[in-house]
Amino acid sequence: MAGIQVAIDGPASSGKSTVAKIIAHCFNYVYVDTGAMYRSVTLAALNRGIDLADQDALTRLAEQIKISFQPSADGQRVFIDGQEVTTEIRTPKVASQVSTVAAVSGVRQALVEAQRQLAKTGGVVMDGRDIGTTVLPTAPVKIFLVASAHERARRRYNENVAKGIPTAPLAELQKQIELRDQKDSTRKVSPLVQAADAIKVDTTKMSIEQVVVRISQLIEKKLKEIAE
Ligand code: DC
Repeated sequence: MAGIQVAIDGPASSGKSTVAKIIAHCFNYVYVDTGAMYRSVTLAALNRGIDLADQDALTRLAEQIKISFQPSADGQRVFIDGQEVTTEIRTPKVASQVSTVAAVSGVRQALVEAQRQLAKTGGVVMDGRDIGTTVLPTAPVKIFLVASAHERARRRYNENVAKGIPTAPLAELQKQIELRDQKDSTRKVSPLVQAADAIKVDTTKMSIEQVVVRISQLIEKKLKEIAE
């Protein structure tokens, strides 16, 4: 049977990409990390010296560059016009500016269109903030992943330490996360909100494995319903 569209939305560091990657692998679906696309436009703008207040220039840039993905053993590699940017899009320089770029309506229009094209091929797991509400409103499975800000900060802190990335103290990370939540959920264009038909999964007290099992069960159930 052809695969279905699985939309996974939620706030920063709720575990979306970790879980989405594993699920895509299990079902042999394509994984699309839409946050990486907003990060890529931000990186390209910074590298080209584009003023982040110039919405028209940012929109033209989002329309022009080609962002592509390649699966790899340790996750997914990201490219802008064929040039690898996998690690560069994760630097604090990009992270601190991406909310501004993601709030530009023209940028969102261009990326939403590109995301819909990537989802055309069949089975897809797409993670982001507006997948269930805007990008793939008819996705048969919509998940809204949440976790307390404290738990998300703790995860990010441990991840930074494990990867040897210099990290701010836990309390500071929690503040940054709360600030990003606030920005993402109050912006005018496509704010972070749960789709009416999305299933909320609170991962605060769940392991990655437990979250994967829960979402996989929801996908299996939907596939069965569709087959009947
Ligand atoms: O998931 P992430 O941290 O890589 O997302 C980076 C930024 O992009 C974050 O500020 C939210 C924004 N974003 C968005 O507005 N819409 C999406 N579909 C995905 C991410």
